[in-house]
Amino acid sequence: MPQQPLQFTHIPHPTPTPAAERQALLDRGGFGTAFTDHMVTIEWSEGQGWHKAELRKREPFLLDPAAAVLHYAQEIFEGLKAYRGADDAITLFRPDQNAQRFNESAVRMAMPTLPEAVFLEAVEALVKADKDWIPAGNGSLYLRPFMFASEAFLGVRPSHHYTFCVIASPVGDYFKGGAKPVTVWVSQEYSRAAKGGTGAAKCGGNYAASLVAQAQAYEQGCDQVVFLDCAEHQWVEELGGMNIFFVMDDGRLVTTPLSGTILPGITRKSLLALAEEKGIVIEERPYSFAEWQADAQSGKLKEVFACGTAAVVAAVGRVKFADGEFQIADGETGPLTLRLREELTGLQRGKQADTRGWVRRV
Ligand code: PLP
Ligand code: COI
Repeated sequence: MPQQPLQFTHIPHPTPTPAAERQALLDRGGFGTAFTDHMVTIEWSEGQGWHKAELRKREPFLLDPAAAVLHYAQEIFEGLKAYRGADDAITLFRPDQNAQRFNESAVRMAMPTLPEAVFLEAVEALVKADKDWIPAGNGSLYLRPFMFASEAFLGVRPSHHYTFCVIASPVGDYFKGGAKPVTVWVSQEYSRAAKGGTGAAKCGGNYAASLVAQAQAYEQGCDQVVFLDCAEHQWVEELGGMNIFFVMDDGRLVTTPLSGTILPGITRKSLLALAEEKGIVIEERPYSFAEWQADAQSGKLKEVFACGTAAVVAAVGRVKFADGEFQIADGETGPLTLRLREELTGLQRGKQADTRGWVRRV
C-alpha cells in the first residue's frame, strides 16, 4: 500500500517547564539525564503504514506487557545533535546520514523503513519546539530517534505494529573527565558482535550485550570497553559506543574496517573525509591487539582516539587489559586528535564554513 503523506499534529504542552527550572537543568551538564518538554511519535501498522504523526508533551508510553519489544528486543535507535551557533543559528550535522542508517538498521531488524524526509521532519519539529533547551557554549541538544515493536503478541515474528519516537536531552561532555584523555579496557572475554549478526545495526540489543563488558571496564577504573572480534579475539573492532582510530609516527591514520560487525559511525566517516582532504594516508584495515601493544611499546603509535556523536573526538591515553596496561605516547591528547576535533566541532558549531553540505539549518 503506498504511504499516504503524513501530517504532523501539534498538541500544545499544557505546562511547559518554567524558564528558571530549564536553565538549572541546562547548567547541570552531563549526558542523558535531563529531557526536554516534547516528543514526536508516529505509529506504523500492517496495512496502514505510517500514521498518527504527533508533536506532543513528553510523557510515559502506555505499553502492553506483551509488547513484542519487551520480549524479543525488536528496537533500533539513532543519535545526533542540534547545535546553537554563535549567531544563534540552530543546526544539525549530517542528519540525512542518521536517517539512512536508521533505515539500514530497520531492514536488518525486519522493521519498516521510515521515509528519510519524515525522519528529518520529525527531528526538526522537535528541535523547533524545544529550541530553548539547546545549550549555548559547548553543550548541545542530543536527539534520540528510536523505533520499537509495539504489537501485543508473543509469537516470534516481526511485529505488526511499531512506534517511532524522537526525544531530546540537553548534554555537555559524555565523559566525566571532560576533554581529558580516556582510559580504555580491552575485553578479551566478551565480544560485541559476530559476522552475520547485528553489529552494524544500531539496535538496543547490541548495547545490552555490551553492558557486562562495560561494567568490567568501570570496575577496572576505565571509561570505555574496547571489543575484539568474536572469532579470534585478536582484531580490534570498536568501543562500547564509539569507533577507534590510531595515528602512526609517519602520519598514517589507521582505523578498523566496516566489516559488518561494527557500527558505521557518521563521525568516523566525517573524520575520514576531513583527513583525506588533508592528504593524510588512511588505512582502513584489520588491526590486532598484539600490533597495538607492539606499536605502543616501540613508539610507532603516536595517538589513539575514539569518536562518536556523544563522545565527539576523545583521546585514548591509557589501555588496560587482563595481563597489564600501557600508555599511548605521553598519555596526552595528540596534535592530529586535537586538529580533527577542532575542525569537526568548528563545522558542527558554524565556526567554520560548511563547504560539503554537511550542516542543515533548522
Ligand atoms: N560505535 C558504536 C557502538 C556507537 O554506539 C556509536 C555511536 O553512535 C558509534 C560507533 C559512533 O557513531 P556516530 O559517529 O554515528 O555517532
Ligand atoms: C551516540 O554517540 O549517539 C551513541 O549512541 C553512543 C552512546 C554511547 C550514547
